[in-house]
Amino acid sequence: MGKLDNKVAFITGAGSGMGKAQSVLFAKEGAKVIAADINFDGVQKVVDQIKADGGEAVAIEIDVSKKSSVATAVDKGLEEFGRIDILSNTAGILDGYAPTLETSEELWDRIMNINLKGVYQVTNAVLPQMIERGDGIVINIASIAAFVAGGGGAAYTAAKHGIAGFTKQLSFDYGSKGIRANAIAPGAIETGMTKEIFAEGSAEVMESVNSVPAGRYGQPEEIANVALFLASDDSSFMHGAIVPVDGGWLVK
Ligand SMILES: NC(=O)c1ccc[n+]([C@@H]2O[C@H](COP(=O)([O-])OP(=O)(O)OC[C@H]3O[C@@H](n4cnc5c(N)ncnc54)[C@H](O)[C@@H]3O)[C@@H](O)[C@H]2O)c1
Repeated sequence: MGKLDNKVAFITGAGSGMGKAQSVLFAKEGAKVIAADINFDGVQKVVDQIKADGGEAVAIEIDVSKKSSVATAVDKGLEEFGRIDILSNTAGILDGYAPTLETSEELWDRIMNINLKGVYQVTNAVLPQMIERGDGIVINIASIAAFVAGGGGAAYTAAKHGIAGFTKQLSFDYGSKGIRANAIAPGAIETGMTKEIFAEGSAEVMESVNSVPAGRYGQPEEIANVALFLASDDSSFMHGAIVPVDGGWLVK
């Protein structure tokens, strides 16, 4: 028996990195997965892999920053599997570690629209049918940049702090209606987002990556394992937590 048997999970950013790892793991644990990403080819490959392993999944194109795209994607997911029990807001982009004076208005808006407004928009599209059933899980992928500076630039850090606040307020407002919302704060994880940085990173960036107690960067599967815990009844008393999974980054 899987930990997510009979559950339907909607995962954004599912075409790569942590979203892909969650999609594969959740399907392995019995969930039907709606794998959504702006990169349709990427997410289709993930779904092909899940199906080849005997799981159930559908690939859907979504741009989390666009309300109409979000509405269409969520409708398609609901049409396919009838409901959404678990939402993982994973899609996100990096801002090149730009300090505020080097952050153009365009970059600021792009980061906010994808990393923060995207979380709000997808949550609002999925939440009503969860509340109607009195049951639902929301997992938001924040970052150590939700706690400290240096995990991104001005816009990224502001957006990730915003995700932490949004997650807490979501719990506060809807916990009593059966919704459990929590966030994960990953440290440095080897994904599409960071591969180049780790390969060619400045000494300063690599120093912060390697000086964590774990002495290494993490793998997306190590985030997916914690997301599975938050998605399952194993975490039944957890509401509004922002859980660091960071190799110890935050102890510094
Ligand atoms: N990799 C790290 O070290 C790290 C650390 C902390 C937090 N995070 C966060 O983890 C999350 C996942 O990132 P990852 O490291 O797996 O990166 P990734 O680049 O491997 O995956 C991100 C996915 O999001 C998708 N995406 C980008 N913009 C989108 C949009 N507008 N709509 C829908 N999908 C979109 C991309 O196509 C990609 O498939 C992000 O929110 C990121 O900020 C990453």
